Amino acid sequence: MITLQGVSKTYNKNKTKALESINLTIPDGCIFGFLGPNGAGKTTTIKLITGALEADSGTILVDGHELPGASLAARRTIGYVPDNPELFSRLKGIEFLNFIADLYGVDREERQRAIDTYTRRFEIADVMSARVGSYSRGMKQKLLICGSLLPDPQNWILDEPLIGLDPQAAFSLKTIMRERAQAGKCVFFSTHVMEVAEKICDQLAIIKKGEIVFTGTLDELRSIKGKDSSLESLFLELVENEGA
Ligand SMILES: Nc1ncnc2c1ncn2[C@@H]1O[C@H](COP(=O)(O)OP(=O)(O)OP(=O)(O)O)[C@@H](O)[C@H]1O
Ligand SMILES: [Mg+2]
Repeated sequence: MITLQGVSKTYNKNKTKALESINLTIPDGCIFGFLGPNGAGKTTTIKLITGALEADSGTILVDGHELPGASLAARRTIGYVPDNPELFSRLKGIEFLNFIADLYGVDREERQRAIDTYTRRFEIADVMSARVGSYSRGMKQKLLICGSLLPDPQNWILDEPLIGLDPQAAFSLKTIMRERAQAGKCVFFSTHVMEVAEKICDQLAIIKKGEIVFTGTLDELRSIKGKDSSLESLFLELVENEGA
């Protein structure tokens, strides 16, 4: 479970306000979707949760451990798929996966089993000895997803993971998300794909200009808005620019 309390973040020496005192609770055992327009603060929030960035103020708890300063063991409960797959182009696929497994302290037997399982499920098992630089965007994305799963993380955080995935891989990803949620793990991902969010999310948060404007289930969103609409129309209504 991940909790953010009053978390704020600015860039450019306080000139750009990215997050304004946000509160968010991401429980275990559900698929939690994070929606919002471009520049709303999704990636910033995710980088704070994964420890890639530090908040200006507020508290972030991962299974009760406060970031930053959490122990290595607590940090290892987070599996992270970043939004940009341009990483480690000189490594071979298998070297990248072993590197991630080393970072997370995954033992030899478990690592072999997980690498076999996930590279097969994402159909990249046969390119493990090729360099990552030679992969297509979608293949890199699949490799990052496989890497994030090697430590069997309690908290799986994905930033726009569906971008670039073919339908088969997108289906595998959604299936694994559901399996993990059913196993009691925390699954949190950002997306712009409303149809996916509508179909697979148990809970949603919508962020607009650095502020959370809704958290709850789709049914709760519909009941607040008082109509039987698609997530897309509810989303557009919530994030539309009052000033524009
Ligand atoms: N490295 C950075 N330096 C300066 N400003 C930044 C930086 N990263 C993000 N920002 C600003 O912070 C705000 C939130 O950006 P963020 O990347 O979190 O949005 P997002 O919701 O992930 O958008 P998208 O849907 O386009 O991925 C934006 O105003 C953006 O310009
Ligand atoms: Mg982003």
